[in-house]
Order: sequence, then C-alpha cells, then structure tokens
Amino acid sequence: MSNRGKQDSPPGSGINRRKFLKGIGTGLVGSATLSQGILPEDALGQTPKASARSSDIELAVVRLKINGKTHTVEVEPRAVLLDVLREKLQFTGAKKVCDLGECGACTVILNGETVYACMMLAIDADGASIETVEGLGTPQKMHPIQQKFVEHDAYQCGFCTPGFEMSIKSLIDKHPDADLRTIKKSLAGNTCRCGAYPHIFQVALELTGKKGGM
Ligand code: FES
Ligand code: FES
Repeated sequence: MSNRGKQDSPPGSGINRRKFLKGIGTGLVGSATLSQGILPEDALGQTPKASARSSDIELAVVRLKINGKTHTVEVEPRAVLLDVLREKLQFTGAKKVCDLGECGACTVILNGETVYACMMLAIDADGASIETVEGLGTPQKMHPIQQKFVEHDAYQCGFCTPGFEMSIKSLIDKHPDADLRTIKKSLAGNTCRCGAYPHIFQVALELTGKKGGM
C-alpha cells in the first residue's frame, strides 16, 4: 500500500510538513508584529530587513500655520493631521473620538473651511493656515463662543465641544446672521453623544443675533 498520503515531502526537497507549517506560523507572527509597529526581531530573534524598519521611512517636512504661528515639522507621509497636531505639536484641543470622519470632535478650520483632522494627511495640509480651539481663547480670556458655552451649559463630557466651537466659529465667520435652519445645517457634521444640542444651538443663535429663534 502506498504511503504517499502520509509522506511529509517529496524525497530530496529538503522541506517537510513540520518545517512548512512552522514557516507559515512565523510568517503570521511577523505580519502581526509589523502591523503593530513592533520590529520583527523582537518576536523572532531575527534581524529585520532594512525596508521593514519604520526609521527607514523618508520623512516629509510640513509647514503648518496654526493660530497664526508657523510650525515646521517632520512627519511620515502616512501621518494624519490630527495625530501631528496632538502628538507632535501638542495642540490637543481637537479630539480623537471616532477616528472615522463621523463625529466631528476633531474639527479644525483649514484655509477657512472646517475639516475633520482625523481624515486628512498632514502632508496634504502643508502650507495651510489652520485654526484650532486653542486659538479661540483662554480660561482667563474666553472667546464669546466659549463664554456662551459656559453660560448655556452647552456640554457635559466636553469631548464634542472643541469641534462644535470650531464649526460655530466657521459658521459665524461666514454667516454672521445665520438662522436656526442654517445653524443646524452647518453643525450637522458634529455629534454630541450627551445630547446637548438645544443648548449648543442656543449658543449659536445668540452669537448670530437670533436670540429668540428657538
Ligand atoms: S474623530 Fe474625526 S470625525 Fe470623529
Ligand atoms: S458634551 Fe459629551 S459628547 Fe457632547
């Protein structure tokens, strides 16, 4: 009876089933560790190829004018604007909440338009003028938008607040007399999980002079 079905490998191939499976196993570990930014030698006891090392990625120089001041920073081409703002430049006002372009917590104003900073590469923002919540005011000297948020108790956890404030800033810059309908449309890209919407809309209405609009 032939034992071909049980044979580990063809004679002379130098590979048997055990070695083959072991190879697959280590390959999977290598993929997993690479995807987590861990160098493969940590897991395999092997020296990685130069191309696998993140330090070999050519960095790009990006200039961002943030709240009127120019910052020059080296970033990986894949770096997201939100991460560069928060982690490299310490502008932590814009929040990373969904990281999917859905909640608006990361909203900043870029060349006059609101953008989700979590959905934009930093290299695509090179040369741009960016406004973040840090440019609005300080606890000692709040911007009128921030004062109204406090007056109207327009937040609870506050995670959505910087994004809403930047969207309202953009709105009143463009439509200083916006009515409730325009306000709701302009803020449609921002989500408040705490449900502070009526208070937030009231803030915007008072800033646009439509105090009795609700
Ligand atoms: S964190 Fe950017 S849209 Fe939610
Ligand atoms: S205040 Fe909590 S998400 Fe808006």
